[in-house]
Amino acid sequence: MSTVLAERVVAPPPLAPRCAVVLLGTGVVGGAFLKLLDTPAAASLRLVGAANSRRQQINPARLADRSLRERLKTEGDARDDAALLAALAASDAVRKVIIDATASAALAARHPEWLARGHHVVTASKAPAGGDLADWRALQGALARGGRYGDSATVGAGLPVLATLRRLRACGDRLLALEGVFSGSLSWLFNQYDGTRPFSALLREARERGYTEPDPRADLSGEDVARKLLILARNAGFALDRNAVDVASLVPESLRMLDAEAFLDRLEALDAPLAARHAEAAARGRVLRHLARLDRHGRARVGLVAVPAEHPAARLRDTDNLFALTTTRYRAQPLVIQGPGAGPEVTAQALLGDVLALG
Ligand SMILES: NC(=O)c1ccc[n+]([C@@H]2O[C@H](COP(=O)([O-])OP(=O)(O)OC[C@H]3O[C@@H](n4cnc5c(N)ncnc54)[C@H](OP(=O)(O)O)[C@@H]3O)[C@@H](O)[C@H]2O)c1
Repeated sequence: MSTVLAERVVAPPPLAPRCAVVLLGTGVVGGAFLKLLDTPAAASLRLVGAANSRRQQINPARLADRSLRERLKTEGDARDDAALLAALAASDAVRKVIIDATASAALAARHPEWLARGHHVVTASKAPAGGDLADWRALQGALARGGRYGDSATVGAGLPVLATLRRLRACGDRLLALEGVFSGSLSWLFNQYDGTRPFSALLREARERGYTEPDPRADLSGEDVARKLLILARNAGFALDRNAVDVASLVPESLRMLDAEAFLDRLEALDAPLAARHAEAAARGRVLRHLARLDRHGRARVGLVAVPAEHPAARLRDTDNLFALTTTRYRAQPLVIQGPGAGPEVTAQALLGDVLALG
């Protein structure tokens, strides 16, 4: 035996990770999060469970497999939240975190219960914080009893808008007005739309680029933007219910009840009304932008607005989001946060950032 081998220091047993993580959802965002887990930034995290809608995995060797996401499509245990929670409870980690990277309302309804069990929740899902007011209140009740809630990914895909809003409020600053473009897909569509190409052609391109939901009515209806506005308003101290938000849908009545395929066949029905609005705006030197707005009285509106060329939303690019916060201390000029407000990498990074912020 060589001297080198004889003197080899026996490696100490691996230290307990600071954070044990269960990941729910291995789609676009969850898949990007799994890639981040392989980077040095996530060295303090240990994945103890992962699931899609049909299968899950708690076996450490299988969880460490880089093709976990693909494998879950065809192999793994049947879905059972209890087994995932047991794997989390059995971990010796200092912090135990459930990451919700789904759009499942059923899972969102369980966030308060997971917090009550002493776990932390980090979410890309806008429900329950942007859902019914009763769900928001249940969440606040659970948070008052312990646990922390990472929600950076729910608005602006991690742009630091919620953190800024809460920080200002903690300092006694009060939101007087909020205005912005909260949807990456609607930002792209109206940044492009100058009347030269029919809106339906742009919408098809946006869908092909993956900017819209598979059924673009989810974007065009304004409901997703309304949820983000509710999350922001509630964090600013306005306890608004969904019916307090005036949402002007871009989907004509005649197209609302169709199945997705039939809707996609009839996109040209969107063209004439939008062309008329564009021409009317252009005649006044304005452009169309999809804005969300909240005033100091808690009046909340979502819809298309003709804004002048000097408006900050008129100068956006690509899928940029914009949040302009007018407060008692940012009164003469609003505090403006702008940047890409969609995309798997930045959204997954927001999830990781929230987990790391737990300490
Ligand atoms: N994409 C973005 O840029 C972005 C940005 C900000 C926020 N978000 C939000 O992030 C969330 C995920 O978005 P995404 O784009 O990643 O969606 P996605 O690609 O459709 O993925 C959703 C994932 O959730 C899984 N899932 C559904 N129900 C589940 C359940 N009960 N248990 C476990 N897994 C379940 C799905 O499983 P299957 O694969 O079996 O269907 C899928 O893996 C949504 O709430 C979305 O609004 C997305």
